[in-house]
Amino acid sequence: MLFKQQALLRQKLLVLGSLAIGSLLYLVARVGSLDRLQPLCPIDSRFGPHGQEEIPLRALQFKRGLLHEFRKGNATKEQIRLHNLVQQLPKAIIIGVRKGGTRALLEMLNLHPTVVKASQEIHFFDNDENYAKGIEWYRKKMPFSYPHQITIEKSPAYFITEEVPERIYKMNSSIKLLIIVREPTTRAISDYTQVLEGKERKNKTYYKFEKLAIDPNTCEVNTKYKAVRTSIYTKHLERWLKYFPIEQFHIVDGDRLITEPLPELQLVEKFLNLPPRISQYNLYFNATRGFYCLRFNIVFNKCLAGSKGRIHPEVDTSVITKLRKFFHPFNQKFYQITGRTFNWP
Ligand code: A3P
Repeated sequence: MLFKQQALLRQKLLVLGSLAIGSLLYLVARVGSLDRLQPLCPIDSRFGPHGQEEIPLRALQFKRGLLHEFRKGNATKEQIRLHNLVQQLPKAIIIGVRKGGTRALLEMLNLHPTVVKASQEIHFFDNDENYAKGIEWYRKKMPFSYPHQITIEKSPAYFITEEVPERIYKMNSSIKLLIIVREPTTRAISDYTQVLEGKERKNKTYYKFEKLAIDPNTCEVNTKYKAVRTSIYTKHLERWLKYFPIEQFHIVDGDRLITEPLPELQLVEKFLNLPPRISQYNLYFNATRGFYCLRFNIVFNKCLAGSKGRIHPEVDTSVITKLRKFFHPFNQKFYQITGRTFNWP
């Protein structure tokens, strides 16, 4: 009897032991592959005494943690000095288009170890009051980064604001400009949905999209309606082209960023002359959200806020057809100028 119990105990211990060893091996394998796929921290020669030394994984994680603190603006003066951190003016700006997927693009680019995002929309170039505060004010709004990294900010209002191209040109005439676009009618409805939500929250009355987008007197598309005007991409781009050559722009397909983000991000990496670092590992589809979410490492992942990916109201099909017909010639011109063709109806 005693012998039987001992045998049973030995068997149990054996199973538990193999389970523990199995889990350990799995963890080691995961961390190892993770390290290869996704460098936890930009490895800078300043970290190792001779620039060649292997940095233990734990130390890398610690440093990434620190950088995270710096990004949040929590760095102490001593940490900034020790790590040689700086606040750099952006080397690239996502200038628009509102509701094109600007937040998703910024967050996804931030997966790249060389990219550091400015979390807030800074509205420096489109807001006269901010602009009057000067370029140092703007620089101080930037996150801390290592000197070899690049800072990116996004303020979609830049794309449609008259004064912005000249102001950005004065800051840096060789800056790289990113524009993310969606099918113009869908973008206009998304724009409407955002404003509608704000009005509903404040208990304000608001018109239906159809009423705003179509002029009731002429029954034609209402070009005075901001959501319509913003979707005439070529008109805005032409203003920018007075200051910057087309080579300084990269157009991102916002509809494809939703369904298949990786190839779009790889094109941006190329445009920004960054080594390819964002991989499929960093992006996973979340069925509950209905969107791709971001995986930074084994412990840290996130989806965009609920304000991204709203359900659009149903819009009368005749109004959609009218809008699509209206945007068609502008779209053709946009394809011609940018050299990027979309299958917009
Ligand atoms: P909708 O809310 O109309 O669906 P912006 O950040 O410029 O305001 O754009 C918001 C849009 O980003 C959303 O519009 C959504 O469709 C799109 N988007 C793209 N990728 C997304 C993602 N991974 N998660 C959530 N929204 C995403």
